[in-house]
Amino acid sequence: MDTSHTKTIIELKKKFTEDVNSAKNIGALMLLHTEYLGRQGKINSLFKSIPIKENPQIGKQINDLKVFVTKELQDKTHNLPEGDAIDVTIPGITPPLGSLHLITQAIEEIENIFFKLGFVRRRYPEVDTDWYYAEGLNISKDHPARDDQETFYLGENVVLTAHTSNGQLHEMELKKTPPIKMINIGKTYRRQIDATHNPMFHQFEGLVIDEGINITNLIGTTEYFAKAYFGQDRKIRLRPHHFQFTEPSFEIDISCGLCHGKGVIDGVRCKLCKSGWLELGGAGMVHPNVLKNGGLDSQIYTGFAFGWGVERVLMMKSGLNLPDLRMLFSDDLRFLSQFS
Ligand code: DAH
Repeated sequence: MDTSHTKTIIELKKKFTEDVNSAKNIGALMLLHTEYLGRQGKINSLFKSIPIKENPQIGKQINDLKVFVTKELQDKTHNLPEGDAIDVTIPGITPPLGSLHLITQAIEEIENIFFKLGFVRRRYPEVDTDWYYAEGLNISKDHPARDDQETFYLGENVVLTAHTSNGQLHEMELKKTPPIKMINIGKTYRRQIDATHNPMFHQFEGLVIDEGINITNLIGTTEYFAKAYFGQDRKIRLRPHHFQFTEPSFEIDISCGLCHGKGVIDGVRCKLCKSGWLELGGAGMVHPNVLKNGGLDSQIYTGFAFGWGVERVLMMKSGLNLPDLRMLFSDDLRFLSQFS
């Protein structure tokens, strides 16, 4: 019998016993398993390096060692003190689920109402040239909308758009020939910041152009939206106003949901509206100059437009009485998770 092989086997067993006794956790035992019993492991190497056919005794000794190592590793794994072992029955940690921001929810609700009327949703640049933002919309050089108190100018001719009306000319250029029926919802920027203003907010801009479009279409569409979004019992009214890019122009009001347009509740002035009506936003018939600037013949086509604030309608509808509008744009989960 070859005693040098037997010696190697005895030494390997001794080394393994030391190793297994110093292993403290599952990870260490797994490493030992690979080191000794793996395909390239120490025991397999022994099998390969010794001509077993000529030394059946040695083959048996190696096999005994293999059985020993396997059993030792199993026993040690089962006997590890609690805490070192992995308990696969413990339930996993559920990560917190996010949800859509309430402004995103409002935008989806608004666009869905207009989809029912056959509008397409557009997104036009929030950084735009003076032409689309003002000049092409018939806004003269001395109009307050050009005042850099309100508008963020990025260069002489480039602005962060303070309204979504710039989408009107873009849409006319894109479609080239009416019918046009789009709703452009996007971010708008103004140099205002206090409890009721944030420098970034959202507007939705409707534009409808075709042959024979008139004020009744404007009224029907905005009334449809007002009832769908705020409730079928609400009414709208038009007040004359002035915008450079529409003629005639209006402010559209909606009847107050609290006093139902009366302005008084039980003989006391309504706290929400004071007059029975709440202002929704601007609208009007597209000015012939704007049609012309968009490449359309104002003798053939007419249209209407409106541009309203997303945060504004959201606050009006939900009765969210925020002490500070900027909370909408904070990342405070205590606030946001109430609307998931
Ligand atoms: N762009 C105007 C604003 O931000 C709102 C507006 C008024 C949009 C009348 C329109 C419109 O399309 O016809 O104050």
